[in-house]
Formats: sequence, structure tokens, C-alpha cells
Amino acid sequence: MRVLILGVNGFIGNALTRRILTTTDWQVFGLDVGSDRIEEFLGEKRFRFLEGDIAINREWIEYHVKKCDVVLPLVAIATPATYVKNPLAVFELDFEENLRIVKMAARYGKRVVFPSTSEVYGMCPDAAFDEDASPLVYGPIRKERWIYSASKQLLDRVIWAMGNANGLRFTLFRPFNWYGPHLDDVDAPKEGSSRVLTQFLHNILYGVPIKLVDGGRQRRCFTYIEDGIDGLMKILVNENGCADGQIFNLGNPAADLSIRELAERLVAAVGTYEKFAPLARAATLVEVSAAEYYGANYQDITTRVPSVRKAKECLGWTPTTDFATGLAKTLDFYLSGRLRPEV
Ligand code: UGA
Repeated sequence: MRVLILGVNGFIGNALTRRILTTTDWQVFGLDVGSDRIEEFLGEKRFRFLEGDIAINREWIEYHVKKCDVVLPLVAIATPATYVKNPLAVFELDFEENLRIVKMAARYGKRVVFPSTSEVYGMCPDAAFDEDASPLVYGPIRKERWIYSASKQLLDRVIWAMGNANGLRFTLFRPFNWYGPHLDDVDAPKEGSSRVLTQFLHNILYGVPIKLVDGGRQRRCFTYIEDGIDGLMKILVNENGCADGQIFNLGNPAADLSIRELAERLVAAVGTYEKFAPLARAATLVEVSAAEYYGANYQDITTRVPSVRKAKECLGWTPTTDFATGLAKTLDFYLSGRLRPEV
């Protein structure tokens, strides 16, 4: 199989590439603006990479959409601080650029595996979100945080409609707070440039107070990247067409933590590394309001639990990594071999 991954150096893209190259005989064609996470594959015969931009390298993309069997358009802005700071950039990249790719895949009769998001459920009141039954609930337009989920939701709907109208072969998958090695750069100094786990780790390592937005009462189901990749591989293999025309939540309902619990678990886990224990002991948690941290146009999601019934029934997938194990693996990646930063 020939797989085209746009955003191949991203958090999901690099992990998927590693899995494909080490466990299958498939070929991967990848595009990204950077290559720091995929350097180890650059010499590999079954991996072709172009350093480029989805908005600029259009001919390369079209050629490879034609050449490949399946397209994964993984390029997107995925940090909530950007949704409120630069909502138009989110729309242009996450919606407009990706729509072009999806239309291209439809034109050439290629299969699309598209990353929807747990955020499409928004403030859904259901205890567990069901792909085919749960309502998708957003706040008012002035709450610009929702532009990300609204963009993703509309693309989900366009892809779905193309499946019915043009016979586009597709699968939508919804990651629920995937985390693990290569999530974000823990040395990135800008607050909000990172998702919560790597943001908190950065704060511990640099002696900056951990900020619990609205007290950290909101909850997320943290899903280890390799579990997510297991699900994605089942979708790509697509035995007997089991993934065709379907939407799948890929999340770990058993790792449902409040953000405060996450901070506490993280501080305790960092404390088990001798070199970093003093930093963990010195870590502080402070409460800040969402308006202070993100600005007035942010609105949060208080609970977000996936139903994984459908993924189990159709794909035979269930997450198997508990949070303690996933966190230990993640910290080993970020901390072993790291020198103690100057604080
Ligand atoms: C994320 C992002 O939108 C995407 O990465 C993705 O589509 C989706 O959810 C997902 O991975 O399922 P969110 O869960 O809100 O959204 O992202 P984080 O930035 O990781 O924040 C999680 C929670 O931690 C939020 O409630 C936020 O307010 C809180 N937080 C974040 C803090 O309390 N302090 C911080 O310093 C940062």
C-alpha cells in the first residue's frame, strides 16, 4: 500500500510513519514544513519526504494523491490558544487547505482517512460521546474557540456528503487528547504553544507555576499515542471494508482525569527522576481564570469521554495503555538523557 501523509512530522504523523515502516511493507510519502521528528527515516527506501507547505507545494501533492492508495491530511493548527488568537488562520489551514486535499482525493478516487477531533462534540451533555448519536454543541460566535471544532465538523460533514454523493471512500477518526513522545516541544517558551501535558512539564522544568485554568476541574481522557496508532492501523488495514464510511472515537475512557489530577500525577511522576526531583518538589499550582489565561473568547469543555463501543465492534480496537504506563513512557522520552535546565 502507498500512504500519503501530509503533516508527516507532526505528533500523529511521525508516530504513524514509524509504525508503518517498522511493521509493514507499505510505502510512505510525506510532506511537512519540518523534519526533526522523522530524521531517522530520511534514508529509508520506503519513505519519501518533501520539506514543503500544503498551501504552496500543490503540484507535488496532486502528483502524490494520484500515486497513492490512501491520503491522510494531518496538517492542522491544534492548540486552543491559537483558536482564540488567530481564528482565521485556523479556518484557512484546518478547513480550506484540507478541503482542497479532500476534493482532490475524491477527484482521483482515492481513500481519505481524516482526523476529525474530540472537540467536535463541544459541550455535548452525554456521559459518553457516541459517533452516530451524540449532539455537537457549541457556544456563541464571539467565543472564537469554537472555530476549530466548527471547521473540523463542517469538513466531517462535507466528507460524509461526498461519500454519499460521489462515492468517496473515507474514514473519520476522532483522537481524544492523545499524548506521548514527540507531543510538543517542552522547551518552547511561549505559554499556550503546547497542549496541557507538555505545557505542565515545561512549567515544572523551568520553575514556572503550573496554571490551572478555572481551578483545573475540567476533565479529559488522556490516550496514549501507541493505542491511537493501533486504531489508526486497523483503519488503514480496513479488513473487509470495516472502516469504510465510518466515524471512530479513538480515546481511552479509563484515563479520565481532571486537569488538576493531571498536574498532581505529573509532578509526582517527575519527582521519581532523581535529577528532576528538586524541580518537582519546587513545583507550584496556581488557579487562573480562563479569561486571564486565554482571553475573553475562550470557552471550555468540562467533560469529554468517548464511547469506544463502535471502534471495538467494527475494528476490534480497545485502548490498552493505562495512564501511569503511558505517562512513564512519555517522561522517559522527555527526561532521560536531558540535562537539568538552568532555572
Ligand atoms: C485539544 C486540542 O484542541 C487539540 O489538540 C485536539 O483536537 C483535542 O483537544 C484533543 O486532543 O482531543 P484541549 O483538550 O482543550 O483541546 O487542549 P489542551 O490545550 O491540552 O487543554 C486541556 C485542558 O487543560 C483545558 O481545559 C485547558 O484549559 C487546561 N489547561 C491548559 C490548563 O489548565 N493550563 C494550561 O497551562 C494549559
